[in-house]
Amino acid sequence: MKGVVLAGGLGKRLEPLTHITNKHLLPVYDRPMIYYPIQTLVEAGMSRILLVTGGANAGDFLRLLGNGQAFGLKHLDYTYQRGEGGIADALRLAEHFASGEPIVVMLGDNIVEQGIKPFLERFAAQGSGAKILLKAVEDPGRFGVAELEGDRIVGIEEKPARPKSPYVVTGIYLYDARVFDIIRTLQPSARGELEITDVNNAYIRDGQMTFDILDGWWTDAGLPETLYRATTLVRERALRHKGASAEPAGAGAGFTPPLLPR
Ligand code: DAU
Repeated sequence: MKGVVLAGGLGKRLEPLTHITNKHLLPVYDRPMIYYPIQTLVEAGMSRILLVTGGANAGDFLRLLGNGQAFGLKHLDYTYQRGEGGIADALRLAEHFASGEPIVVMLGDNIVEQGIKPFLERFAAQGSGAKILLKAVEDPGRFGVAELEGDRIVGIEEKPARPKSPYVVTGIYLYDARVFDIIRTLQPSARGELEITDVNNAYIRDGQMTFDILDGWWTDAGLPETLYRATTLVRERALRHKGASAEPAGAGAGFTPPLLPR
């Protein structure tokens, strides 16, 4: 399995913070936002990771991350998304990198408290199709919202006015190689984007989608309020860890370990 981090888009909802830099380079507590999804994938065992970026500051990712040595990687792949065509448009660019292997995709503005390795293992055992990770939240209407019937997911609505459940689709997606064929069938939505929700609904229609509920906290960081929330959550986690030094660090331990020296 290979990892993909999506950090394209223009981050307009964070203006003026994003006027002269990319949203994913903004600080979340003690490191740039983009560090968190990369670290989550590395902790889950990914050694091949593609970063999809875009906009006027794409070169800064290379200056910041280089070959990923701060994460213990030997190499990082990069590609460039023109414009802001949507999450599925950004993912389309990963086809060559994936070269037929299954992928775990993480949105560049998503941060999780705990490791995701168990979900990757369950997806590998599943053999084909897709898996998404859900989380119950108080404000589901600003996300993709899952409609559940018992232990089945029957549909997802993107930012519905009347959410059918509190369970939202987090920005962590596991796909087999068919995802790129599905993306080729998509039409832009009303907001002019190729929607990841349309990709997921295609898998649901084919009976090829499973889901798990994410443990621990989860947040995005694409609005002033959620950027602040992300910083608070990450800081509290770091302080908790400092105060409990007997706790083992690493995947699943709920702690973002210090980065390796460059
Ligand atoms: O955070 C989870 C939510 O992310 C899901 O519940 C929604 O179903 C999904 O559509 C998405 O919603 P957002 O409206 O929050 O997505 P946003 O436009 O903020 O983009 C999230 C990340 O995706 C962004 O940090 C980088 C990447 N992206 C986005 C766009 C529009 C790209 O790489 N390229 C793009 O063109």
